[in-house]
Amino acid sequence: MKVLLVNGGPHKNGATDCALRAVSEALADEGVESEIFWLGNEPVAACIGCYACKKTGKCFKDDVVNKVAARLDEFDGFVFGSPVHYAATSGALSSFMDRLFMSAGEKMYMKPAAAVVSCRRGGASAAFDEINKYFTISSMPVVSSQYWNQIHGSNAQEAMQDLEGIQTMKTLGKNMAFLLKCIEAGKASGISLPEREPLVRTNFIR
Ligand SMILES: Cc1cc2nc3c(=O)[nH]c(=O)nc-3n(C[C@H](O)[C@H](O)[C@H](O)COP(=O)(O)O)c2cc1C
Repeated sequence: MKVLLVNGGPHKNGATDCALRAVSEALADEGVESEIFWLGNEPVAACIGCYACKKTGKCFKDDVVNKVAARLDEFDGFVFGSPVHYAATSGALSSFMDRLFMSAGEKMYMKPAAAVVSCRRGGASAAFDEINKYFTISSMPVVSSQYWNQIHGSNAQEAMQDLEGIQTMKTLGKNMAFLLKCIEAGKASGISLPEREPLVRTNFIR
């Protein structure tokens, strides 16, 4: 069992990373492997709505999105982390998730996921809600903790002092491990993934 933790912030060793490390440590304590993947500092292109991915199976722009998409089968669970930027996720994570979920969301079907946010002071729950919406449109069980998954601090040094935030992340890791083990046990006892019906797509004019 392996979990991918994506750091969508501009600082490789910043506050978001501090939160993800706490999740990763708790996963390790429960015997679950994990990998923290930093998106980096190069701007991540936004989705241009070309739907090329629907024809080719790949995003039009061959960058970090396709790199992660190609590896999705390696992972059983996901954590997407972001600093709060103007009471929202970072632009990089937002663009990354738009393109990853549009081009390869199917590969995460029924895999547990969680959102993690870091901020100095405000906007955490707005950013948290934003990330969770990708999971709830993709049939991904959302893993929760004892509080909304947020840590407070302008940088890693400050975030480490947010003891409640750290504990929230540790609990999240434990809860993720528990759910992954339940899913594995379920599969081993013959429970298969729900059968999927062809999508019925309507809009509000017909
Ligand atoms: C462009 C920008 C916007 C920000 N907006 C907010 C905000 O709305 N609320 C807040 O509390 N902190 C805000 N911050 C501070 C970061 O959320 C905070 O420093 C975060 O913990 C940094 O995480 P990182 O080290 O992983 O980048 C902002 C920082 C930047 C660079």
